[in-house]
Amino acid sequence: MHEEYGGVVPELASRDHIRRLIPLLERVLVEAACHRSDMAAIAYTSGPGLAGALLVGASFAEALAQTLNISALPVHHLEGHLLSPLLGKSPPEFPFIALLVSGGHTQLMRVAEVGEYELLGESLDDAAGEAFDKTAKLLGLGYPGGPALAALAMKGTAGRFKLPRPMLNSGDLAFSFSGLKTAVLTIVRSRSLDEADKADLAAEFQEAVAEVLATKAIAACRKHRLSRLVVAGGVGANLRLRERLDAAMAKFGGKVFYPELELCTDNGAMIAFCGAQRLLRGMVPESRGGAFAVRPRWPLNELAQAF
Ligand code: KG4
Ligand code: ZN
Repeated sequence: MHEEYGGVVPELASRDHIRRLIPLLERVLVEAACHRSDMAAIAYTSGPGLAGALLVGASFAEALAQTLNISALPVHHLEGHLLSPLLGKSPPEFPFIALLVSGGHTQLMRVAEVGEYELLGESLDDAAGEAFDKTAKLLGLGYPGGPALAALAMKGTAGRFKLPRPMLNSGDLAFSFSGLKTAVLTIVRSRSLDEADKADLAAEFQEAVAEVLATKAIAACRKHRLSRLVVAGGVGANLRLRERLDAAMAKFGGKVFYPELELCTDNGAMIAFCGAQRLLRGMVPESRGGAFAVRPRWPLNELAQAF
C-alpha cells in the first residue's frame, strides 16, 4: 500500500490498522488456542511513532481492557526491541550493552534491568535503517529498501567504490549516516551505473555501515566492561552486520545475542513480552478510568515518566 509513495503514509496506515485490528485479535486468539478471558493484561505500543497509528492501537487496547476488567499496559516501542532477544532460546543475562538499529533509531544503551536503560550514544542525523532506505532509493530499489539493498550487496564486492566510515575515530559512541548517503548520491550523479556497479556500491555501503556499527558497539562493551552485546531492530537482520559483530565480539572474548530473525523487525510479540515482564515485576500503571495518551516522541530515558 505504501510502496506506491516510497514511504509510509500516516493516514493510510492508521485507517488500515482500524480495519485489521479486530480480525487480527481473533486470529491470534485462535492460533494461540486462547480465549479472551485467558488474558491477564493487554500491552500496547504507546510511543514513539506516528500519532494516528498509536491512537488506533491505544484506544483499542484500552477499551478492550476496560471491557474485560484487566490492566492495559502502555509499552515503549524501543523497549520492545531491546528486550526481544530475551525471547530467544539462550537469552542474555543482565546487564548488557544493546545496539538498537531500526528505521528511526541508532542507539547504544547499557541495560541494567527491565526498565533501566542508559543511553550511551546515538546517531546525530539519519538512523542506520533510514540510511539503508534512502540509499536503496538512490539505487532505484523499492521500499522498504533495507532488505533489497542487502540482497543486492550480496552480489557485489566492497572496496571497488570508496565510501567514508563516518565518525569511526570520533572517540565517542555517536554515529552519523547522512554523509554516507550523500557520498552515494555523488557517485550516482557522476556516472551511469550498470547492475554490477550498483551491486558493488551496495556492498561498499553495507560494509561502511557494518564497520562503524560493529566498531562502536565493541567500544561500548570495552568501556563498560561488559561481554554481552544484544542487537535489536530491523537492521539487526542484516547478515553482514552480524558477521562483523560476531567476529569482533569473539576477538573481544564476548558474545552477541540476536532476536529470532522474525522478531528483528517490528512485531507484536516483543510488545506483549515487554508488557509481561512489567506485569511480573508489578510495574503496572494505576488505573486512569479509561483515560490514556500516546507519545509520538518519547526518549527511552524518560521511560519512568509514563507510569
Ligand atoms: O525495527 P524496524 O522493523 O522498524 C522501525 O522501528 O523502524 O526497522 C525497519 C528498518 C528499515 O529501515 C529497514 O530497511 C531496515 O530496518 N532493515 C534492514 C534489513 N531488514 C530491515 N536493513 C538492512 N539490512 C536488512 N536485512
Ligand atoms: Zn521498530
